[in-house]
Amino acid sequence: KERKLILAIESSCDETSVAVIENGDQILSNIVASQVKSHQRFGGVVPEVASRHHVEEITLCIEEALIKADVKPDDLSGVAVTYGPGLVGALLIGISAAKAFAWAHDLPLIPVNHMAGHIYAAHFVEPLEFPLMALLVSGGHTELVYMKETGSFEIIGETRDDAAGEAYDKVGRVLGLKYPSGKELDTLAHLGKDTYEFPRAMIKEDNYDFSFSGLKSSFINTVHNAQQREEELNIENLAASFQASVIDVLVDKTVRACKEYPVKQLVMAGGVAANQGLRERLAQALADELPEVTFIVPPLRLCGDNAAMIGAAAFVEAEKGHIATYELNAEPSLSF
Ligand code: KG4
Ligand code: ZN
Repeated sequence: KERKLILAIESSCDETSVAVIENGDQILSNIVASQVKSHQRFGGVVPEVASRHHVEEITLCIEEALIKADVKPDDLSGVAVTYGPGLVGALLIGISAAKAFAWAHDLPLIPVNHMAGHIYAAHFVEPLEFPLMALLVSGGHTELVYMKETGSFEIIGETRDDAAGEAYDKVGRVLGLKYPSGKELDTLAHLGKDTYEFPRAMIKEDNYDFSFSGLKSSFINTVHNAQQREEELNIENLAASFQASVIDVLVDKTVRACKEYPVKQLVMAGGVAANQGLRERLAQALADELPEVTFIVPPLRLCGDNAAMIGAAAFVEAEKGHIATYELNAEPSLSF
């Protein structure tokens, strides 16, 4: 079998990542340089700081990915890069590096949608089978995507306001947790009980959309009221109640979508897919209600932003002949 090697580059947000992927499903290397510490003191990602870090890291990451994979530029069959959605300055660093590398080594340039990348991360666990449903939950997105076949994406529902990860980060900030606070809230939630009453927005509505800003406000009000009355707050129970609300709506609507569409698999992807409670509850609900649908979630290290997933998606794009010219530009609000 011919060995197809792709060098993949991801720089859409606060991770500089470069990977070498063989035949779309084997990770030879996946270097992730996280800038999270630099953004923590600002309580969120600062675009200008992100761009500067990407500039410093990108060539080192490319070199390291090639060395770790024991691959030379001449062995490669293409260079893949995330061109959106994301921060424009951050995206441009990855795109410029990819163009330079592709030009220097005379390789095709393969443009990849970051969100498609998140879905294709599941391909490292099990070959994707279509039609499938994908629940994409990250810091910037919360959407249900129906894939009738490879490379075809239909958003059937999405958040009307905050993304799930954004809600985690915002309520975490109110509790004084470090950015991004999803993981820590997840851990706290496991130590507490669902005792505070928070809304399950849009759960009964006949659509696949979500809303998390009401939950966020309700959480913040609960904290402020308690502080004003000098009442004790049970942080573990607060986290557990918040998480229960997020999980209830995500699980309810996702399972409903899988019933309406003729899917073989359900893929959950994006940073929030690392959530332990969500992984357990969705797996259970699917096993109970739709045992014929296979549930695939990438391992934790492939849930957050990484270039391996971009390489997996690029393989499909390249097979379809989707090759970019050197005119390729960043598309900060790229959709499917
Ligand atoms: O996909 P990602 O790495 O970056 C974006 O493209 O947004 O997602 C980051 C988001 C952050 O909001 C973070 O708080 C959240 O994923 N996150 C979690 C967990 N781990 C990360 N949210 C809930 N539970 C977790 N265990
Ligand atoms: Zn992401």
